[in-house]
Amino acid sequence: MDPAGGLKRQRSISDEANAQSPGAAAYTADAQPAPSLATAAPLTPRDPPPDREDSDSSDDGPSKLELLARQLDALRQAGELPDHLVDPPTPPPILSSFDADGLAAYINDGSERDIVVMGGAGMSTAAGIPDFRSPGTGLYDNLQKYDLPHPQAIFELAYFRERPEAFYALAKELWPGAYCPTTTHLFIKLLHDKGRLLRCFTQNIDSLESAAGVPAELTVAAHGNFDSATCIDTGASVDPNELKAAIDAGPQGWQALRDREGGLVKPDIVFFGEGLPRRFFELATQDLPRCKLLLVIGTSLSVQPFAQLVGHVPENCVRCLVNRDAVGRRDPRIPIAVARHLGSGSLDYGNAANYRDVALLGACDDGIRSLAASLGWADDLDRLVASATALFAARAPPPPPELPPPRQLSASELASIGDLLVDDDENAAPVVFE
Ligand code: OAD
Repeated sequence: MDPAGGLKRQRSISDEANAQSPGAAAYTADAQPAPSLATAAPLTPRDPPPDREDSDSSDDGPSKLELLARQLDALRQAGELPDHLVDPPTPPPILSSFDADGLAAYINDGSERDIVVMGGAGMSTAAGIPDFRSPGTGLYDNLQKYDLPHPQAIFELAYFRERPEAFYALAKELWPGAYCPTTTHLFIKLLHDKGRLLRCFTQNIDSLESAAGVPAELTVAAHGNFDSATCIDTGASVDPNELKAAIDAGPQGWQALRDREGGLVKPDIVFFGEGLPRRFFELATQDLPRCKLLLVIGTSLSVQPFAQLVGHVPENCVRCLVNRDAVGRRDPRIPIAVARHLGSGSLDYGNAANYRDVALLGACDDGIRSLAASLGWADDLDRLVASATALFAARAPPPPPELPPPRQLSASELASIGDLLVDDDENAAPVVFE
């Protein structure tokens, strides 16, 4: 196989853009530097089944990625890897240590607005919102009640047209307002308060960044959210409060809205097959070259094109994964230049070639707390958490009054109840309570 040819067939961010934007220069694997994220036509989220694309093997044999890694490794060992794919010598480490302390020292040495956050569903699980792919607890493992042909159908336009009630039921559950931002969301706000947040790109539709106080202009909802709504047939904007009221009212509610609007109305959440907001590409193109630290928090990095942002920061940008699972790590057999464009993992934490990547593995809030402690920001973070918790408690409906514990009945009380239940006719069948 010709590896360069193979790479050209891999659809990088700019490949996708070129495919949708005729006239744009064709991208090839040896183009340098990393291609621009700006596109004339917005891209659509792609969700390759991670089991097949990213894992080493499955019952059906090795994944495409594993096959590519083997072929590239064979070429390397035979000394036939093209020069432009040979990894450059590893630069000296940027960090004094690859942990929270090393990261904190680096952050404390930084300047204004040089930190970009890339967030995913793992940031919000501590608030009670499930993520998508965690086995057992993730949303895609818990949609049986909707009887979907496959879990992702809940976010597919064709299925929504056919059976809107499934998405509407989920939307009712997920509609923002019922959840309190987590310590991680509040740390992003703290980054802003400290003048360090350049942008927060989030895949989440829960708007918890906004609930935490991160300004709207610093947040990019890459997969949309519930802040606006559109009729899918006429393209007319619809007040999201009107949509919420319709969904809350059940089928009659959303059917009436559909009849009024001339088509189904959907919150502006990016479904599979829909374009990402133009703002995502514009701001990613603008911000990533200026980014000194990329914090990748609570995401499996399995949905494109979002996951590819990791490979589009400058080579002297430190990247830190804060996540329960060790995701996004480059297979050392795959050259750095290739990994950056595949979007399947270009982080080098734990690899011999690492000079800039850190992984704080475990719960997001724990990783973030350890980073805040190393930064000397623990008290500031605690204050933000305390005020968000108090605000949320004040807004939440009061819990139902506690019922007194059941009283043990005395023998005579039991006997008198028994008398009430026994029919006058002593031969009558006993009363049986099912
Ligand atoms: P995923 O569910 O794919 O990944 C969540 C990641 O967070 C996993 O690696 C979990 O291990 C990790 N995680 C969960 N809870 C955690 C916690 N408390 N602390 C640390 N890590 C935790 O979610 P995303 O990567 O965000 O698209 O998924 C991206 C997109 O896939 C979503 O935006 C959605 C979905 O299809 C659309 O809606 C278009």
